Amino acid sequence: MKWTRIAAVLLASTVLLLAAATLFAQTSGKGAATKKAAPGKSAGAASKAKIARGEYLVTIMGCGDCHTPGTFYGDPDFSRKLSGSEIGWQGPWGVSYARNLTPDLETGIGYWKEQDIVNAIRTGQRPDGSVLLPPMPWPSFSRLTDADAHAIAAYLMSLPTVDHKVPDRVPPGQQASGSIIVFPPPSAWDAPRHPPGAPTDKK
Ligand code: HEC
Repeated sequence: MKWTRIAAVLLASTVLLLAAATLFAQTSGKGAATKKAAPGKSAGAASKAKIARGEYLVTIMGCGDCHTPGTFYGDPDFSRKLSGSEIGWQGPWGVSYARNLTPDLETGIGYWKEQDIVNAIRTGQRPDGSVLLPPMPWPSFSRLTDADAHAIAAYLMSLPTVDHKVPDRVPPGQQASGSIIVFPPPSAWDAPRHPPGAPTDKK
């Protein structure tokens, strides 16, 4: 009887000890997990680095040449950076205007997801399925790596919004008003062999 009681007490204390140990393990585990997941900070740093990479690429890839007002006149207005241009480009595709790339919901690409931007710059396809016209050089950008294309998209989404509606495209043969760069008819050497948006023998 006595021994049974001692055994019972021992068993009870073992159970208690085990419970305490488990609790401790869980608590310290939790501590470790919190430490690991705490990277709210390093996730922020990662996206900061991604946006900085995007800014670098957008700068060296000359997006602002067409998309930032004033650049063609040697005086880009960075307070309206990448907010589009009202200079029309006229060619066999009609007239196109470099669009507002800031995340303005009404006039920019505020409703586009990061993947929509990646698709547009790499495949020329807008979210509505229409194809980007010249001189938007998306065929050259189709070689962007995933990481670089996403960095560009993240940077564009981080821009301050600018409320600026660029003129609508004008279909071929219709009259456009405003400032327009008119491409002269090409020489045979320069003549396009494919209609705009059609697959090319890209290199
Ligand atoms: C040579 C001029 C030029 C350069 C350089 C250029 N773009 Fe464009 N981009 C255009 C034109 C013009 C359009 C409008 C085409 C159309 O109407 O189909 C456009 C359209 C776009 C669109 C679609 C926006 C919309 O609302 O449909 C995106 C996104 C874009 N450009 C991103 C970029 C990025 C990013 C770069 C640099 C990596 C860049 N562009 C460089 C001329 C240019």
